[in-house]
Amino acid sequence: MGDIATTESTVPELIRTHTCGALRATDMGTEATLMGWVHRVRDLGSLIFVDIRDRYGVTQVVARDDETLLALAKRLRPEFVVAVSGTIERRSEDTLNPKIATGEVEVAVREIDVLSEARRPPFQISEETPVSEDIRLKYRYLDLRRERMQRNLQLRHRVLMAARRSLDEQGFLDIETPVLAKSTPEGARDYLVPSRVHPGEFFALPQSPQIFKQILMLGGMDRYFQVARCFRDEDLRADRQPEFTQIDLEVSFATPDVVFGVVEQLMQTIFEANDESIEIPFPRLPYAEAIAKYGSDKPDLRMAMEIADVSGVFADSDFQVFHDAVAGGGVVRALVVPGAGRYSRSQADKLVDEAIELGAQGLVWARYGSDGPGGPGRDVQSSILKAAGAETLGRLLEAVSAGADDLVLVAAGSSAEASGLLGQFRLRLAQREGLIDEGRRALTWVVDFPMFEWSETEGRHTSMHHPFTAPRDEDRDRLDTDLGAVLAKAYDLVLNGSEIGGGSIRIHDQPLQRRIFELLKITDEDARSRFGFFLEALEFGTPPHGGIALGVDRIVALLAGEASIRDVIAFPKTATAVDLMTGAPSTVSPNQLRDLHLRTDS
Ligand code: AMO
Repeated sequence: MGDIATTESTVPELIRTHTCGALRATDMGTEATLMGWVHRVRDLGSLIFVDIRDRYGVTQVVARDDETLLALAKRLRPEFVVAVSGTIERRSEDTLNPKIATGEVEVAVREIDVLSEARRPPFQISEETPVSEDIRLKYRYLDLRRERMQRNLQLRHRVLMAARRSLDEQGFLDIETPVLAKSTPEGARDYLVPSRVHPGEFFALPQSPQIFKQILMLGGMDRYFQVARCFRDEDLRADRQPEFTQIDLEVSFATPDVVFGVVEQLMQTIFEANDESIEIPFPRLPYAEAIAKYGSDKPDLRMAMEIADVSGVFADSDFQVFHDAVAGGGVVRALVVPGAGRYSRSQADKLVDEAIELGAQGLVWARYGSDGPGGPGRDVQSSILKAAGAETLGRLLEAVSAGADDLVLVAAGSSAEASGLLGQFRLRLAQREGLIDEGRRALTWVVDFPMFEWSETEGRHTSMHHPFTAPRDEDRDRLDTDLGAVLAKAYDLVLNGSEIGGGSIRIHDQPLQRRIFELLKITDEDARSRFGFFLEALEFGTPPHGGIALGVDRIVALLAGEASIRDVIAFPKTATAVDLMTGAPSTVSPNQLRDLHLRTDS
């Protein structure tokens, strides 16, 4: 140990005394041994500065005076793993760095051990230079060393610890459910695992622990939670992964209010883990209102910009398209875009083209001319000025209280079509015009979802949430008359326009559960073979129960300010569902296939 310098050794002879984030001015004059990666080397000839990095920070180390030591320091390259030991000193004035916690001190090194050398990395770890995501994912172990991923995974850890703490305090039991399971109800997109000992039979990886958590309520566990991995073979997007993590929970004898209370407390604790405070309770927004006012069941409420109904303005107007839409039972809706009134005519017309690219029939714009707001008929500009007339358009602008700088967009169709289109422009234009309050956390419950939606492809009603969701008591009678009008005891939690959770109160009585299966055209036989055990279980004394699952990856991404959940997952899949580091999925040996009783046709 006393020797000045050694070269590669497989076992460190030195014992780590501090991390690279620990040393402060108060440590001056004492000894330290640090271990970590070479972050950066600055070679000034008779003076060599080496920054050493680990998870906790970066510490400057300086080699000087001793020729052997200088020779060794000269050999150091980025990403070598080293142990260094020496005396803690104050940095010279010109190298003080107030931006980092260790910025006042350096270690005057007496010994350097190279614990392992490193090939030249394919991208720099020490700087956030842009690197393609494919390269980052292929060399994820290097990407994980970078500050961004270190920060994000530490945040993820804090979020999960906070969630566990909150749920423990609220009386929840952490119970694991199987990963080798049976096909779950969320959809057809199961990942299957062949059984070796039962030829031709398969396990399904859980799309969620839904049935198991309900069975746990039947099993008297009262309050369950799990940080659960879920698997869905779906088309991927920035906020979707084939395997993802939920904070999954279920409560016996619950009403929606009970679940909301649990989740609001949980979310408060989670935000505190990121040094943020949020107000509870969260506002509640009925689904139909969300669709009408924001054109989305996951509205971004960081900006007001509500869509207004202006059917009345056009019901008996000369503008045939809108007139006919209203006469045919449709609606005309309008969105005021603050600031966009100064668009040039061709800029405004481009929005119409954009709407058509989005698949809409059309879009109308209107605004006040240079004179600003005036009475009906005064100086109005619009894409339909000739067809609709200044008088009607003046009434439109008045009805939505448009100001001089506003552009008003108008669309017609069914409520979902008209508001859906305007909802997309609401998001796009708020972004373009900088109307989003980026610092805001807008949390809201969306409630009263329809129980069913009509599936054109399947020619039947499907569950909007899942088939275990209970209808609202007041809508039970409509199950026989008007399925489309039945609302469910289902709710989503939305944060800044992203769905971060979804759940419901469940059906706890067997005849109703059977009836819902029937309405979903799940045959008796199918119900028996897929959920027979569950239907039977419901006959043995079922507490009313309900719950929710929160998307951990989405929550952490939003807290971290990341656009993609891939940046808060240690080893994510790409958008085409492959793992670029390991090369999964991959073919397997013929022997393995034979053992599993499988044949492939490729
Ligand atoms: P749901 O399917 O709504 O509900 O999922 C709950 C939450 O999980 C997140 N999520 C995803 N995150 C990343 N990648 C995905 N592919 C993905 N899919 C969903 C979302 C979503 O809000 N069993 C029910 C819950 C219940 O009823 O209690 C369920 O899984 O944030």
